[in-house]
Order: sequence, then structure tokens, then C-alpha cells
Amino acid sequence: MISNLDASSFYRRLNRVLFPSCPIKSEEMLFGRGKDMANIEAALYAPGRHVFIYGDRGVGKTSLAHTMAYKLQEATDPIVVGCEPDSTMASIIQDVITRGSQPATHHTESQLKVKLGIAGTGAEYQKSHKPAPAATPVTNVSSAVNALFALEQHHSPHPFVVIDEFDQITSVEERQKFGVLIKSMGDQGCKTKFIFTGIGDSLMSLIGGHKSSERQIHQTKLDNLCWDGREDIIKRAFGEFEIDIDKETRLKIAGLSDGYPHYVHLMCEKILQCAYAKQENVESVDRKLFLEGLSEAVNSVSETLKRDYVMATEGREDMYHHLLWAMADSADLQRHKSAIMASLHAICKHLDVAQLEKAQFDRRFNNLKKESFGEIVVPALGNRPMWYRFKENMLRGYVRMFAESNGVELDFYRHYTAMEPSVRTPTGKQRHYQPLTEVERLASQNRK
Ligand SMILES: Nc1ncnc2c1ncn2[C@@H]1O[C@H](COP(=O)(O)OP(=O)(O)OP(=O)(O)O)[C@@H](O)[C@H]1O
Ligand SMILES: [Mg+2]
Repeated sequence: MISNLDASSFYRRLNRVLFPSCPIKSEEMLFGRGKDMANIEAALYAPGRHVFIYGDRGVGKTSLAHTMAYKLQEATDPIVVGCEPDSTMASIIQDVITRGSQPATHHTESQLKVKLGIAGTGAEYQKSHKPAPAATPVTNVSSAVNALFALEQHHSPHPFVVIDEFDQITSVEERQKFGVLIKSMGDQGCKTKFIFTGIGDSLMSLIGGHKSSERQIHQTKLDNLCWDGREDIIKRAFGEFEIDIDKETRLKIAGLSDGYPHYVHLMCEKILQCAYAKQENVESVDRKLFLEGLSEAVNSVSETLKRDYVMATEGREDMYHHLLWAMADSADLQRHKSAIMASLHAICKHLDVAQLEKAQFDRRFNNLKKESFGEIVVPALGNRPMWYRFKENMLRGYVRMFAESNGVELDFYRHYTAMEPSVRTPTGKQRHYQPLTEVERLASQNRK
């Protein structure tokens, strides 16, 4: 129980602060992205410039794009469209035009009442609703530019358009057409602004479409959420219910999440739900409550996210779990095989299970690279021998949560290698480079 809240008040408050499954669109809820927002805003004020936000799956690309678009769009809502494998430049712009012609409030009223985004003033002004002109179909770059000019007449003078998951478009040729479109829009003074999201490769094919479009696209690489940002989500969530959560537990959640905000939201949500389900009133998070919530969070991670882990471990000996936990140990995303073995050694010792001989370790480790094991581990550092990483970075957060919920506390701070990004080190914690300790070095040498 939490402060005698009834179910509807509890869930209303919970949904106000935690969004494990949907992108954020308000600045107050988007933590740790202040610098990116300022840079994007500056870029979008420049005539003819657009933005491409790229980064790993789940780092928060769509949330940043939505928040920027909602922040900057005046008078109405921004336009948000997604991409699909068979999308074309023409189909996407057509989609933009269709959506831009039917904002929710436009349907029936001839006058559109718009709330200005000035917090607390409640100021309103009336904007004449200009009905969208009969649509001319978009078929090529030139008709796309014309359609966007028309959009500026009836949607807003400066429409902000989010084109989400650009990498989904399979055709490189269609991606490249956006480079040409952007160049044309700039030349003709079109004021519509695009905010793209996607992975880095798709950005390259967009720019490849027209060399000079590189100058017209501000590129924002989004890293995993910084430690302060992770902690801010936690503080905001527990603060909403006036529940105390100590620094150590906050850092634990932040470290387990590996900088993927989805995991932070999920763990906080489950801990709060477990607290709410208790008979007694909960005022602070203790270790037992944390572990209960963590275990619920691990269970509710989506099937697609945990598929590879399940493939690598289900119906197999426990050692495969231990091997994967060893992979997720330390702050390094790319790990040398000897360091993985050192981590495994520590885990086996902690669990009091027998160590693997070098040959046994090699055989099992090689299995993790096989298709039947989800190819969960792949070579790293341009295939340099002995260096490995998880197939997908987001997996590491899941593996960390899984290990912790099974009583294995991994180290999130230690660097075995010297070149990992410092975003992973929380404020107040010194980033430290530690090669293998003597004991670990001996342990790994003995197994060679
Ligand atoms: N800066 C942030 N502060 C708080 N929560 C965030 C932040 N960024 C993202 N989130 C949350 O994290 C989750 C994932 O965010 P989002 O969907 O924006 O990521 P994405 O990079 O677009 O993911 P995908 O690659 O799967 O499309 C969402 O639940 C969102 O609410
Ligand atoms: Mg997204």
C-alpha cells in the first residue's frame, strides 16, 4: 500500500511519471538530454537545416525527436510518421500531408482554439482554420516540395515533421531521394523541418543521395542515457509517491539498466507496483522490495528483447547463464576473452560451482556464436581475434538484470580496457582503468 491511494489514483500517478512502453513527448519527462536538445534547437533555427537523430536501439531517439517537435511546433501538433520496409519517399511525404491535413482539432471546427505553450498562463488564441486544399498526389521530388509548400498554408507556417525509424526503408534509392528532397526544399525556401530518427547506416545512405545535403542535416548521435539522467527518472518516479529510495539502490537500478531508459522505467514501475500490492504502507525501498520488483521486471521484458538470451540458455546447462553474466560484467562493451574468463571465474567462485577448464570454456563460448544459440555473442573490434561483444548492446542490460535477480552482483564500473566511453561512469565515481589483477591473470594463464 502507498499512502492509502486507491487503485485509480495509484495508476494515474504511475502513468504520469513512468512510460516503459511509449516515447516521451514532454520536456519535463525527458531526462539527461539537455545538451542534445539545445544543439538540435540551434540547428533547427537555421534556415534549410534538418536533424537526424541516430543511435542504438532503445536509447531514446523517438522520445528526443517527439519532444523537440512538440517543443518547437507552434499553434498545433507536429506531424509524426513512421517508416516501413516498403515505404518510398513519395509515400512518406503523402503520409505527412494526409496527417498534416487532419489534426485532431481541425475536423469539425471552423475556428481552431490553440493553447499557447506558455506554462501556467492558460493563454489562448484563435486561429482561422484553413481547410486543406484538394490533394495532388505526391509522386516525385518536385511534387513533394509543392505539397510541403501547401502544407505550410494550412497546417502551420513552420511545420515540424518527425520521420521515425528511417532505417526501416529497405530501398537505398528511396532513402537517397530524401537527400535530394532536402536540397530542393532548401533551394526553394521551404520552411518545413524534418527530424529523422534511425540507425547510423541509414543516415549515410540519405546523405549519399545528395552530397551537399550533409551540410543541411544536423547529425545527433545519441549515446546511452548518462548516469544523472537515469537517476533523475528514478527520483521523479519515487518522488511522485514520496517514497524514499537510497542512493545505493538508485545507482544499482541505473547500472543494471546500462543506460537504456526503458529498463529504468520498467524496474521503477515494477518496484512501485510491488510496493502498492503490500498490506502495509511502504515509505522506502528496501533490498527485499527492490529484488521483488527486479524479478517482475525481468519477467516482463518483452519476448523479442530476451529471445536471444532464451535461445542461448533454455534447456541447457546453467553454465551458459554464467557465461553470459560474465560477458555482461564490467563497464566494457567489447571484452577480451581472457577478461570474460576472469569474470566467469569470479562468478563461479561466488556461486560455489566448479570452474571450467580452458578447453571446456572455449567449447561453450564458441557455442554462443552459433545460430542455434541465437548468435548472442559476436566478434568485436573489427574481428580482432579474442574480442567479443553482445550481438545487440541492449541485451547487456537484460543480462545484468537477470544476473542480479539470481543473486549475482556484477561490476558496472570497472574497465579492463582503456578505451570505453566515459558516459558509463556515474558522477562521483572515478573512471578507473584496471587491467587484470594478478590473481585473475594467473587464473587465465593457467587455463591457456
Ligand atoms: N531521456 C529520457 N528520459 C526518460 N525516459 C526516456 C528518455 N528517453 C527515452 N525514454 C523512455 O525510454 C523508452 C525508449 O525510448 P524510445 O522509444 O524513444 O527509444 P528509441 O531509441 O526510439 O527506441 P527504438 O530503437 O526501439 O525505436 C521509452 O519508454 C521512453 O519513455
Ligand atoms: Mg524509436
